[in-house]
Amino acid sequence: MKPRIAETVEEVRQAVQEARGNRKIVGLVPTMGALHAGHVSLIQAAKKGSDFVVVSIFVNPTQFGPNEDLARYPRSFDKDMQICADAGVDVIFAPSPATIYPPGFRTFVEVTQLQDVMCGAARPGHFRGVATVVLKLFNIVQPDTAYFGQKDAQQTRIIQQLVTDLNVPVRIVICPVVREPDGLALSSRNQYLDADQRRRATALYQTLQDAEQQIRSGEKNAVAISAKMRARIEATPGAKLDYAAIVDADSLKPVDQIQGGVLIALAVWFGATRLIDNLVVS
Ligand code: PAJ
Repeated sequence: MKPRIAETVEEVRQAVQEARGNRKIVGLVPTMGALHAGHVSLIQAAKKGSDFVVVSIFVNPTQFGPNEDLARYPRSFDKDMQICADAGVDVIFAPSPATIYPPGFRTFVEVTQLQDVMCGAARPGHFRGVATVVLKLFNIVQPDTAYFGQKDAQQTRIIQQLVTDLNVPVRIVICPVVREPDGLALSSRNQYLDADQRRRATALYQTLQDAEQQIRSGEKNAVAISAKMRARIEATPGAKLDYAAIVDADSLKPVDQIQGGVLIALAVWFGATRLIDNLVVS
C-alpha cells in the first residue's frame, strides 16, 4: 500500500491521532531522504517495534553550515516514496522548510559539550540544528519510539541526552550500521564519490577494524592507536583526515588509557565529500 503523504503539521497529527485511536504504537524514523538500505533497516526496526510507522523526509537547513552541501544534497522523493511503500511505511511526513521554520522562528536547542567535539568541532552549529529539528519532529509527530542509526554515533548520543534532559516522552532505539559488502558504511553522501574515491573509501572501516584489533590484542595506549589510524588515513591517496578519535562512549571525551568500552570514530574527506564511520569496542 502507498504511504499517506503529510506535508503539514495538522495532516501528520491527524494521521497519528487516528492510529492512536486504534490503539496503535507509533514509531518515527527521521531522515533527510535519499533513502538507502541503512534507512530501510531503521524502517524495518520500526515495523517490528510499532504498529504505525511515520518516516519524516526533511533536508534540514539549520544543520548545514554556510559552505556545506545543502543545495546539492541528493533529493529523490519519488524513489524514496517507492522505498517507503515497499517497506510498509504508513505515513511520510515531508514538510516544507517554511512549515518547520516559519518566519519569526527563533528557538534552538543545544546539547552543550557533546555538540562541540568530533563532528561538532568541524561543523559548528550542526548539532544545534539536529537537536532542534529532532525535538520539533518529536513534538509534531509525538511518536512512542524513534529510530536512529549508530552510523551517526555522536548524533545518537546527543539525542539520547536531549530526551533525558528535557523529559521528552519518546523511547530511542539505536540500530546497527549497515555497510556495503566491502565495509563502506552506507550514506546518502557516498554518491558524491568518483570511482577512485569510492574504492579508497574502504580505508575508513579498515582503519577502524585495525584499531579494534589492536585493542583486542591488549594495546591500552589510545594515543598510539589513534596515531596509527591517522597514519593509515594519511597514506590513502586522495584522503584527508578530519579526525581520528578514541573517546568514552558516554562523555565523548578522549581517553588516554583504554579501560572498558570506547567509541572509535573517524571523519575523512575525499575531495569535497566528508565521510564518517565508527565502531564501539566493548
Ligand atoms: P540521514 O542522514 O538521512 O539519516 C537518517 C537516519 O538514518 C539517521 O538515524 C542515520 O544514523 C541513519 N543511517 C544513515 N546511514 C545509515 C547506515 N549506513 N546504517 C544505519 N543507519 C544509518 O541523520 C540524519 O538524516 C539527520 O541528521 C536527521 C536525524 C534526520 C535530522 O535532520
